[in-house]
Parts: sequence; C-alpha cells; structure tokens
Amino acid sequence: MKFFIDTANLDQIREAQDLGVLDGVTTNPSLMAKEGITGKANIINHYKAICDIVDGDVSAEVIATDFENIIKEGTELAALHEKIVVKVPMIKDGVKAIKHFSSNGIRTNCTLVFSTGQALLAAKAGATYVSPFIGRLDDISTDGIGLIEDIRLVYDNYNFETQILAASIRHSTHILECARIGADVMTGPLSAILALLKHPLTDSGLAQFLADHAKAAGK
Ligand code: E4P
Repeated sequence: MKFFIDTANLDQIREAQDLGVLDGVTTNPSLMAKEGITGKANIINHYKAICDIVDGDVSAEVIATDFENIIKEGTELAALHEKIVVKVPMIKDGVKAIKHFSSNGIRTNCTLVFSTGQALLAAKAGATYVSPFIGRLDDISTDGIGLIEDIRLVYDNYNFETQILAASIRHSTHILECARIGADVMTGPLSAILALLKHPLTDSGLAQFLADHAKAAGK
C-alpha cells in the first residue's frame, strides 16, 4: 500500500519524507490556497519544491474545466517534472482529457470521485489513479469505505490497472480499513499517518524497559 500525504505544506512533506514511508504527495487548489500560494509563477515553483523533497508522485490539479484548457494546463504541469501526475476532476471534459492524456503518455489522477460509476469511467478513460473521497462521503452519512470496497470489486473483475487512491482520509482507522480492503494508495494528513505509531502499551512497555535498564546499571 502506498502512502501519500495530502498537503501543500513543505514542512509536513519534509517530515513525512524523513520518516521514510512516504510514496507521494497530493495537492488540490484549496490546499495550495491554504499555504498562500497564488499566481502562476509561485504555483509552478511550489510544485517544483514539492518534487525536490518527495521520492514519488506529486498530484497537481488543473483549474480549467473545459477540454482544451484542461489539455493545455495539464500538459504544462506534466512538463514541470517527471514526478507530476495531472489531477483532473470527474466531469465530462475531464474524462475526455484523461483519455487524451493516457493516450499521450501523461499520467493522471481523476479527482472528486464519489460513486462506483464515476470510478468505472475513470478506469475506462485510462486514469493512472482514481480518487474516491471517503471522508466527505462519511460527512454526509454515506459509507465512504463501502465505496472503496465496491470499486475494488469492479476493478478486479476486469483487471483495470487504474490504482485506487483512497482520498479525503480523516484518521488512522480510515487508513487501516483501506488497507484491509486493498486500496492501492491512501492520501491523508500527516496526523493520520503519525497516529499509526501510537499504542499505550508501546509507551508503557518502553518506559519499563528503560527504567529496568537504568536500575540494573545503577547497581
Ligand atoms: C484528494 O486528493 C484531495 O486532495 C483530498 O483528499 C480532499 O480531502 P478533504 O476532504 O480532507 O478536503
């Protein structure tokens, strides 16, 4: 299972990369805005800075929503760095663009996916990744994890190569549920990744080991 971090914050990306378990980064226009990154030149420089930190794929999302401009913007993004994966929304022109990109060797991440039908279309168009947003489904009392399970079943039925990138992860339990189902990738906040470390018996066990060692050494 690949671990992506879902942020445009360079410090958090560095921290996750230093941990040694990071396989990539996903960004979106809201995450870029949160870091105060605006204007074409700054956006481009920020994507390049992320690519310099991480060993893995970096999803960069297009702002355009019509076919011609998605192609123009996505082609420019893909040319920035070999790690860039062009993130395209699940809309009609987006599906057409994903097909165009996949036929021309440009990797894509189909974003804003909320149903199995949308995931099927993304795979048919040749998306490299499909991003079902499980947290946002949970937020409206719909089963986000159930969606991942259903997409896994459909993709396995036909050996689709599109990788299921479980997105909108909120906590470590989401990560574990995705791992059980067989999601190929998860993207989540640093806090959810670090929460996997925690267990009270680890903390108390380590405290005991260190205390016993100190006691024995003091004798
Ligand atoms: C996916 O790539 C998105 O950036 C992201 O996971 C959205 O998550 P959110 O629902 O926490 O905004």
